[in-house]
Amino acid sequence: MTPGSIGIFDSGVGGLGILREVQALLPSANLVYVADQAYSPYGERGLAAVRARAFAVSEYLIDAGATTVVVACNSASAAALHELRERFPAMSFVGMEPAVKPAVGATQRGTIGVLATEATFQGELFASVVDRHARGVSVVARACPGLAAAIEDGDDVDDLVHRFTADVVGRGADTIVLGCTHYSFVADQIRTAAGSGVRVIDPAPAVARQVKRVRGDRGTGERGGMSYLTTGDASRFADQVERLTGVRRPAQAVEIGG
Ligand code: DGL
Repeated sequence: MTPGSIGIFDSGVGGLGILREVQALLPSANLVYVADQAYSPYGERGLAAVRARAFAVSEYLIDAGATTVVVACNSASAAALHELRERFPAMSFVGMEPAVKPAVGATQRGTIGVLATEATFQGELFASVVDRHARGVSVVARACPGLAAAIEDGDDVDDLVHRFTADVVGRGADTIVLGCTHYSFVADQIRTAAGSGVRVIDPAPAVARQVKRVRGDRGTGERGGMSYLTTGDASRFADQVERLTGVRRPAQAVEIGG
């Protein structure tokens, strides 16, 4: 990895949606993606365990020369974003926070739904986002156990998507925030399950714009490199990348202790 690269990580494939958006906006940046699949899913582990992994993977990326780290995972952002910024003050971190603010701007009925993992709802970040942006609006927070893992494995997610989406819509939400990066890959199914009167907000493009702002314009005109690393099985990860992005890429297994 060359110095100045952008490191992006998630528990697994969820952050690939962020990677795609970042690459589209910063085509000459060198991008390194780590899927921490040996420890996936994060969302059903305790916050302390997720924080330990977020530190281990961030340190790995920083040691390897990343100057910006994108925590492309709501669960890891909830568990560790604040502490990462304190521990590495010279680094720039871009994290995920549920897109409550745009949802509050969009709701007509005054009720928004947030689909996310248990870990995301446990962190202080979610409470503070709601406190800052959702005054006067009802927020239906719906943990979706099993959904990220099913997307990771390429399982049929119809039943889970219907159950979780129907729950927030049934409780009055007319705007749904995708609060887990894995859910971007089933956004169309969530839209269909929610019905035409419901807006679904995927924060991935906004996160990529934030990465661009943080980096400034460093375009060289040349195409940057991309590495796909996993703490799990490399050929399984290459298959997953192909399934979700339509392109076969070489993937490499790495060990990241912590
Ligand atoms: N994609 C992650 C998130 O945004 C985590 C999913 C998981 O590992 O549970 O929360």
